[in-house]
Formats: sequence, C-alpha cells, structure tokens
Amino acid sequence: MTRYEQIKQELLNSPKTWLITGVAGFIGSNLLEQLLKLNQTVIGLDNFATGRQHNLDEVQSLVTSEQWMRFSFINGDIRDYAICEAVVNGVDYVLHQAALGSVPRSIADPITTNAANITGFLNMLQAAKEAEVKSFTYAASSSTYGDHPALPKVEQNIGNPLSPYAVTKYVNELYASVYARTYGFETIGLRYFNVFGRRQDPNGAYAAVIPKWTSSMIKGEDVFINGDGETSRDFCYIDNVVQMNILAATAASEAKNEVYNVAVGDRTTLNDLYFAIKDSLNANGINVNQNPNYRDFRAGDVRHSQADVSKAVTRLGYQYTHKILEGISEAMPWYKEFLA
Ligand SMILES: NC(=O)c1ccc[n+]([C@@H]2O[C@H](COP(=O)([O-])OP(=O)(O)OC[C@H]3O[C@@H](n4cnc5c(N)ncnc54)[C@H](O)[C@@H]3O)[C@@H](O)[C@H]2O)c1
Repeated sequence: MTRYEQIKQELLNSPKTWLITGVAGFIGSNLLEQLLKLNQTVIGLDNFATGRQHNLDEVQSLVTSEQWMRFSFINGDIRDYAICEAVVNGVDYVLHQAALGSVPRSIADPITTNAANITGFLNMLQAAKEAEVKSFTYAASSSTYGDHPALPKVEQNIGNPLSPYAVTKYVNELYASVYARTYGFETIGLRYFNVFGRRQDPNGAYAAVIPKWTSSMIKGEDVFINGDGETSRDFCYIDNVVQMNILAATAASEAKNEVYNVAVGDRTTLNDLYFAIKDSLNANGINVNQNPNYRDFRAGDVRHSQADVSKAVTRLGYQYTHKILEGISEAMPWYKEFLA
C-alpha cells in the first residue's frame, strides 16, 4: 500500500477539518472534490477573481449530498486579514491555493498580483500561525527556478526570478522559512510545474496552454505556439497535485519546513504537446486537421522546465499516478463535454 492510500484510509476513519483557499479555482476545486469524497469537513474561501461558481457546482454534482453538507463556502478576499482570521478558526489543515496565477498577468499588472500573492499569502500564514493549525501547505511554483540553467530542477538550486509572478512565489517561500525560524511555525511549499486537468479554465488571455489549445482545436480555431515550439515543460496532471497536497498536509514534522517539486520528471516540448492533444482528440472522434501557427517567444517564460521529484518520493512517499499522456487521456471526456 502506498503512503497515499494509507493516509486516505486514515482520513476516512478519522475525518479532519480542512481550509482550502482558492477553492473555486482549478486546483482548489479538485482538492475539494477529493477531500469531500474522503468524508472530510472543508471550509473554502474564494473571491472569484479567477475562480468560478460552476467549478463548485460541478464538485457538488460529483459527491453525495451528505458529503456536500460538510462543505462551507466563504466569499472573501485573502487581502483582508479579518477574513483570514475568521476562516482559519477550528481548522486542522490549511491548503493555501489562492493567488493570481500567470506570468503575463503579473507583467501587465504587478501591483494586483503582488497584493494577492504576497499580502494575501502573509495574511493567511499569520492567521494560520495564530490559530495553531496542524499544518500549512501552500502553492509555490516552478517559476522560482527562474534563469537557473540546470535540468532537471532540484529544490536547492534556484536562479533569478524572470517575472513579477516568480518574485511573489519566491517571497512566499522566504516568509514560510522565516515563520519556521522565528515562530517555529511549520509549513510545506509545493512547487507546482505546469498543472493540467479537469476544471482548468480555457478562456481569457491568461489561460494555460493545454485547456486553451484543446478548446481551440475542438472549435476549429487557430492554435498559436509562442517561439519555435521547442520550449519544454514538465506537465503535471491534477491527480498528482492532489496527492501531493494530502501527503504534505499530513507529513511528519521532519518533512516540514521544506519545499518540494510537484511534477513527474518528464519534459515535453510544445511541438510534441500539440500533436499529443491532436492525436488524443482524433482518437476520441474529434477530427483535427489543422497545423499550429508560430509567433514570437513570450516575455518572462523560461525555456525549459523539468523537475527532479526524488525529494517528494523519498520524504513524502509521493508516487505519481499519471504521466502527461495518461493525464490528457483521462481528462478527454471532460474536455469534450466542457470545452466544445
Ligand atoms: N496551474 C498551474 O500550473 C500552477 C503552477 C504553479 C503554481 N500554481 C499555483 O497554484 C495555485 C492555484 O492555481 P490554479 O491553477 O488553480 O489557478 P486558479 O486561478 O484556477 O485558482 C486560483 C484561485 O484563487 C482565487 N483567488 C485569487 N485571488 C484571491 C484573493 N485575493 N482572495 C481570495 N481568493 C483569491 C481565484 O478566484 C481562484 O479561484 C495558485 O497559487 C497558483 O499560483 C499553479
């Protein structure tokens, strides 16, 4: 039995109270779904900056009414300390996901990104410390590797940040380590690499590449590749991310006050990604004949990204369940239903 299977069994036998910030977003709503299916009590906070009510409605449709009754939602903003203080009351485990994602968004509006990602983060960290929660797990980012050239990325070797977004995520890590040293408050940061899967928003200027391209291909719209298509990423399916959050939240003290890569350790170029999605759509009865269009590289993007996940494997018992093609294939029914 894996550590994840073991923990899930323990949670079923002894339910806990969780706080998910950013619960109406992509990752937050997937955490909510899994925790409710494990009969946990969940408090969710979101201000709908990028999150959507339909994500919560979808989770409601996937759990029993008894499980859904264990969820309470607060429409509020992490930039407001009083809200953070109120939601964390009585909570065992905090999964802090709320932030403004996207490198280009942060370049267009660094002030708003800073407020949500740094002030909001500090508010949640402080409120969680004051409430003496059992653990505080937060969404960090692979963007923290910045211009460090080494591949694969190992947690201790980071470079200079390449965007305001990357600065905010690095500052989260700095605050977390200072809270450990100054107050003895234990946290775990999860450096997510490009996450994808059901309920990821395909719309808007700041949409992630997989839902955006899949949606365009289904609708017969043009797909644009920024640069020559040889930019590469370690695409990580959502189920791996959910697993890592639950492993981190319930980790022993020795594994805390650390950051962990969350990915699979593979590297897929944008060119290969394009054809992987196209092939999967064709295999699922959606005929895609077009080829991609190429345009300029995008500012702030790192060229290659690939994780070394051995720290998560050895210290948290992480065993990813989906590589990229398995993830695309599993997400396909959702893409067909919701991105058409
Ligand atoms: N998706 C990825 O590939 C990826 C990669 C690295 C890190 N991350 C991080 O993971 C977390 C979740 O990302 P996601 O992909 O689910 O994005 P998302 O935009 O779907 O979810 C973020 C959620 O946070 C909420 N939020 C934003 N500002 C808020 C505020 N001030 N108060 C309350 N709620 C607020 C949004 O409304 C949204 O529901 C973020 O911290 C993001 O930076 C994501």
